[in-house]
Parts: sequence; C-alpha cells; structure tokens
Amino acid sequence: MTWWRRGVIYEIYPRSFQDSDGDGVGDLRGITARLPYLRALGVDAIWLTPIYQSPQADFGYDISDHTAVDPQYGSLDDFDALVAAAHAQELRVLLDYVPNHTSDQHRWFREHPDWYYWRDEPNNWRAAFGGSAWERVGDRYYLHTYLREQPDLNWRNPEVRAAMLDVLRFWLDRGVDGFRVDAMRQLLKDPDWRDNPVNPDWDGVDPFESLLKVHSADLDEVQDVVAEIRSVIGDRLMVAEVYSPIERLVRYYGKNGNGAQLPFNFHLITTPWDAAAIADLVERYEAALPEGAWPNWVLGNHDRPRVASRVGTAQARVAAMLLLTLRGTPTLYYGDELGMIDGPDTGHDPGGRDGERTPMQWTAGGGFTTGEPWLPYGDLSVNVQDEPAMLRLHRDLIALRREFAEADYRTLHADDGVLAYARGDHHAVALNLTGEPRPLPVHGERLLSTHLDGGAERLRADEGVVLRI
Ligand code: GLC
Ligand code: MG
Repeated sequence: MTWWRRGVIYEIYPRSFQDSDGDGVGDLRGITARLPYLRALGVDAIWLTPIYQSPQADFGYDISDHTAVDPQYGSLDDFDALVAAAHAQELRVLLDYVPNHTSDQHRWFREHPDWYYWRDEPNNWRAAFGGSAWERVGDRYYLHTYLREQPDLNWRNPEVRAAMLDVLRFWLDRGVDGFRVDAMRQLLKDPDWRDNPVNPDWDGVDPFESLLKVHSADLDEVQDVVAEIRSVIGDRLMVAEVYSPIERLVRYYGKNGNGAQLPFNFHLITTPWDAAAIADLVERYEAALPEGAWPNWVLGNHDRPRVASRVGTAQARVAAMLLLTLRGTPTLYYGDELGMIDGPDTGHDPGGRDGERTPMQWTAGGGFTTGEPWLPYGDLSVNVQDEPAMLRLHRDLIALRREFAEADYRTLHADDGVLAYARGDHHAVALNLTGEPRPLPVHGERLLSTHLDGGAERLRADEGVVLRI
C-alpha cells in the first residue's frame, strides 16, 4: 500500500502556524521547528497552503511568482531545509498548486494578456467573493472567478499549459511529495461564454450561489486537464479541491486512475450531524467510487468554519473519531486536534474566513509569535503544552487506525442518534451523536473511548468508542 492510503494528511496554514522571526506572521522556519510535534502526533504528510510570492490579496492564492517563496514566509533555502527536515522525520510535504488564476501583479498579466480571458462584453457570471466575475480595463473585460486581483488563466492556450506544467516540475525537482490542486473544477469555461442559468433553489444569501455554474465550472473537458496535470505529477500524490455532488466528484479519479488519487471529499462538512444522514453519505460515497479508487474524508479547512464550532466542543471528539476511523485518507486541519473554535471575523480576509485561520495555540500565552500575531488568538485555555484530552485522543486514534486502515467499511447501526460501523472483521466503531446516554449497539473489547477511560456498559453522552469484535 502506498503511504497516502494508510496515512493522515495535516493541513498547515503557514501564516498562522508558527512565526520564527517575531513579525507576527507564520513562516517556513517556524514550520520546520514544529515538525517534531507533527511527528509525535503521528501524521504522515503536511500540506502547505500557498507559500509563493504574492501581494496577499487572497493570502497567497493570488500568486505573482510561482517559483519564488514570499519573503514573509522565507526563502527557497528555507523551503529546501524544510523538505529535508521533513523527510528526515518521515514526513511528506505537499504544496498547493493554483492553476486557475494568478495575481494581477504577475508579470504574465502584463506581458501575455492572451494567457487570460478577455471579452468585449461581460456575461452574467458572478465572482466567488462578490460582484461580477468581469473587470473592465479600457473597453474590454477580463474574467476573475475570485477577486479582481485574481484574473483567470486561459487553459485553452497551449502556452499557458506549458508554463503552468513547468511550475509543477520546478517543485517536483525540489523534492515535494505531491500537490493539492486548487479550484480544480474551474479550469475550463464554456467556449461560447453562455450566461449561467438561475439557481431555482437559491436561498437568497450568497449571490454567488444565485446562478448554477453549468457553463463556468466542472465542464466534462476539465478531465483532460486533470489527466495532463496528473501525468506530470506521476507517482507522487495529487489531491484536488472539488466541491461537487458525489456523482461528479468521483469523476476526478479519472479513467483507469489517470486523475487525482484523492479528489477531496468535503461532504462531511455539509451533511447534517445525524446518524442516518452520515451513514447514508458514507454508503453512497463508497458505492460511487470507481474501481481501484481510494476514499478520503475532510472535516474542515481554511475556507470553512471549524468543526468544533459547527458541531460543538463535546461532539468535536466524536467527529474526530469519525474522521479517523472511516475508510479512507483523512485530512486534519491544523488546530482541530486541539478542538480550536472559530475566532471573530476581523476583516482581514475578503472572503470572511479569518475565524478559522487564527494562530495555532501552542501555550497558555500563545507561543505562536514573540510579536503581535497578525490575527488575534482564540481561547488559549486549549493549547498544545497543556496536552488537552482532545490532543491525546488524536494521537491515540492516529496510532490505532493503522490496525484497520485497509479494512472494509460496513454500517452496523444508524438510528436514534447512534452510528456504528465495522472495519473489517475485527474492529467496530460506535458513535453517540447526542448529548444523552444511549445503548451500545455492538459489543466487544473497548480499545479506545473519546473519554479516554475504560468506559461503561452504555454509550455516555457525546461518547464514541472503538471496539475489538
Ligand atoms: C480555493 C482556496 C481558497 C481560495 C480560492 C481561490 O477555494 O481553498 O482559499 O480563496 O481557492 O484561490
Ligand atoms: Mg514570521
């Protein structure tokens, strides 16, 4: 089995993980210094969100030079040192690859306007962070699916493909173990620029959702680009950001494995916190996987409210057990192993995502920086140094899951607030998704409780257990 099937991926938001020079912004040397912590936690790979040169309009997702490290985060030498230190500790390093757009400050935008999409007339498409997706310059408009500072690249232009595939080669040559590909669904657009149809189910909240993105995302032809990117990444790991219904999502595995090995499965983030709903999701996903495809699960990331804020602190332990015992590669968002909750929206991020990006909580005093952190700390009563139960639970779960990482999934019970499933013939998991005691629907020797003790006959409130059956 390849490492990423058995392994756990840990997402680091570099700006907020560890500052080494007192400027209040996390950096590569900070990450290198914290690798022993990650090693002890038991994860197998770190994914770094963008570290490249950037004006930081979208905190690094607006890249102005794909092969330079932003000075705020360090240098290429610091990067090489990070990779070497990670590999010496048997940790893999994944980078974020952002093919859909660049910064408007990238020299390409000046020197190669035809590498971007320009039109005389805008259509009705909307930008993800508000307003029209078209920005006027003189008497023409360019397309930006995200901020106006992030013009979309034209992947129908072979020069763009060549330049962007070279970016992959640059980092592969520096020894990275793979990539998480940003906004994978968006890469190609309708060649006729048709208007998107109105979304009949729109809830009136986010104007971006008022249209169905049938002409601006997830075109069938995107699969050719997925395959092309994968052919350059080869045997290293390709993870892809794909917010799509399960039937569409699984297409990103490609044909005969020529797509992403792990198209991110975000469905746990949006599925109601209910035993029957979760069991139904797991079964539909498992059934939809193509031959040879390996599943994966995500509970949170730098774009969504944190899991402990969504389901509550008590249920966050149950959620951790779910993430780390389902069949498939889990991706753990930094700080979720402490049960960190969302901070306030302090207006730094144009997409309103400051809350889930607050500094990592290392000590009761913070420990992230000797200076002023770029975002305020959350509640420091949970911190690494004090070894909260949530952190110990994560270590135990990550160690225990290796016993059944490859075993099949089978639902045993999904009713009355309790979800139970078997992993192979020797392990079972029972999760109480409620705040009241419940009967235990399966029996066996208790290997681990979310309460980190021997446990009782019944499932206690907000308790999950792993059993040997
Ligand atoms: C992805 C990233 C998000 C970013 C956007 C534009 O969704 O996860 O943080 O803002 O792409 O690059
Ligand atoms: Mg710094």
